[in-house]
Amino acid sequence: MPKHLFIKTFGCQMNERDSEIIEQLLAQDGYISVSQPEEADLVILNTCSIRAKAEQKVFSLLGMLRKTQEKNPLLTIAVCGCVAQQEGKAIFKRMPHVSIVVGTQQIYQLPNMLARLERGESTREISCDLEKSFVIPPFQKLLEESPAPSPAPSEYKKFITIMQGCNNFCSYCVVPATRGREISRPVADILEEVHLLVDRGIKEITLLGQNVNSYGLTNPVAEKATGFADLLTLVAQIPGVERLRFTSSNPQDLSHELMQCFKYLDNLCPHFHLPAQSGSNAVLQRMHRKYTRELYLEKVESLRLACPEIALSTDIIVGFPGETDSDFEQTMDLLETVRYHGSFSFKYSDRPHTRSSSFENKIAEEIKSERLHRFQSRQDQISLERNQELVGKTVDVMIEQVKEKSVQSRTGSNHIVHFAPKENLIPGELVSVRITHAGMHSLNGEISDH
Ligand code: SAH
Ligand code: SF4
Ligand code: F3S
Repeated sequence: MPKHLFIKTFGCQMNERDSEIIEQLLAQDGYISVSQPEEADLVILNTCSIRAKAEQKVFSLLGMLRKTQEKNPLLTIAVCGCVAQQEGKAIFKRMPHVSIVVGTQQIYQLPNMLARLERGESTREISCDLEKSFVIPPFQKLLEESPAPSPAPSEYKKFITIMQGCNNFCSYCVVPATRGREISRPVADILEEVHLLVDRGIKEITLLGQNVNSYGLTNPVAEKATGFADLLTLVAQIPGVERLRFTSSNPQDLSHELMQCFKYLDNLCPHFHLPAQSGSNAVLQRMHRKYTRELYLEKVESLRLACPEIALSTDIIVGFPGETDSDFEQTMDLLETVRYHGSFSFKYSDRPHTRSSSFENKIAEEIKSERLHRFQSRQDQISLERNQELVGKTVDVMIEQVKEKSVQSRTGSNHIVHFAPKENLIPGELVSVRITHAGMHSLNGEISDH
């Protein structure tokens, strides 16, 4: 009898990728994914701890799952990801109906842990060690052993994790604690994974890491000579990689070589997510971001020189402890200067064991909300103006979703474009579209070549 797995993923793409790996690992033990927790024998929450709200969401869902388990007493509930890493066995105390807690580097232990529970050898399993030299195992091994190696037919894009952890210790951030030290995967493993994916029909690859720009700099594993720009070049040259993206980048390590990649690699998408966090040097310093506003702007200028059509996006935190009105005005001014195509902005949130959680001069909730609202409203206007620049232009888009009345696609610059369907369009196909209308968050167009 097949067993049924319901997995819910919170947080970043790293977690999404980890969830895929978990599904693949458990498929070997006969688990089939289902879309409702009520249909499952095993529920896994792959959790995020980046802000207090993200963590609260996990605990409220766990609370609701208690009822699901009352109806189905054989249901096993497991927690993995960053909250699992951070809270460890405290999760059992708070949520006694949870029977497995797995840290970020231990997901490969899940099948063994489940087997021990099934054999009745234990009633609770926890594995949360963070190893200094943890390297993600080659994906090949998982594929060989898995009964379902091919991606589903509509799958055309995939993430590849190229590094684990983070060494930057920005003062507000839990990631160095939840993901451990920064380690780059060996180049050969990454290239092998790309080859495997394109052989299975994948057209777009996104290389993932908390700070991909420092790939190969701080690691005992990858070949020293291979920096991130070299790795990108190697991946871009693999036949079948039609689009290549990466995320995320810390501006401090954005090299000249990486900027040049946008000039020379045709399949590298002209989009750069470059988290600024703040426009004020005083705040950046307290955040322990190792660049200044001036250096950041220089990098933006050089990037645009290397690739004039590049679309830039960013992450911003408002209301960092001690952020004055004039600090915040500098963030607004950064937005006016760079005119990002889009951004993700957040209210500062205290996180366990971070340095900033003990900083003085915390900002009141109303002020944070006001600042966030101001930033986001202005960003929306700018996004709309940026999008309007595309009206009348013809752009290449990759098809994402074909519905009866509308096709959703994406430009290399990461803009979503909707257009009326034509026959035989499939996800992953590249077509040309003439942009006819711009909204704040997406564009409309007409297919001009198929
Ligand atoms: N490695 C990436 C960021 C990963 S976390 C980088 O260095 O840019 C994603 C975003 O969450 C961060 O860029 C930051 O804007 C936000 N964030 C992280 N910790 C936060 C906190 N304590 N409060 C509010 N936002 C936070
Ligand atoms: Fe967190 Fe900073 Fe590392 Fe990004 S670079 S994950 S913000 S510590
Ligand atoms: Fe969240 Fe962990 Fe990613 S805290 S953002 S899931 S690295």
